[in-house]
Amino acid sequence: MERTLSIVKPDGVSKNLIGEVIKRFEGRGLKVIGLKMIWMDKKEAEGFYEVHRGKPFFESLTQFMSSGPSVVMVLEGDGAISKTRELMGATDPQKAEQGTLRRQFASDIERNIVHGSDAPETAAFEIGYFFNALEMFSS
Ligand code: RTP
Ligand code: MG
Repeated sequence: MERTLSIVKPDGVSKNLIGEVIKRFEGRGLKVIGLKMIWMDKKEAEGFYEVHRGKPFFESLTQFMSSGPSVVMVLEGDGAISKTRELMGATDPQKAEQGTLRRQFASDIERNIVHGSDAPETAAFEIGYFFNALEMFSS
């Protein structure tokens, strides 16, 4: 069993895609074991995307991520990380496969609807950033 952290980003929330994103993850056999709506402030967004600090898009990305509420969730299941990434599609929606969330709904490479952890180590950090043990319910 693997766990991953996903976020419906502020653009996804404002486009009414919370249910659509969750439906795809659940439809792929993943279990939502933790879920909440949050509004990150700038510092919290910077801490979350610490690995990208120094990159040209860091300032704009962290502004975007703190521009409105997001839905953060922990997903559990076999291959949760790769399944989630597959359903999301490539970072740039124009390069994303047909039928993926980003291809279908993202407006550009930054406002791309959804986040998913990219490896077990990043998943562990990202889950711990938003959830404590009492906020996850694994059966
Ligand atoms: P994420 O972390 O959000 O799941 O996305 P990802 O792995 O597909 O992409 P990553 O390289 O980790 O980048 C994180 C987020 O930063 C924004 N970004 N903008 N303007 C740009 O060139 C650019 N590159 C990345 C996107 O919001 C991306 O999802
Ligand atoms: Mg990433």
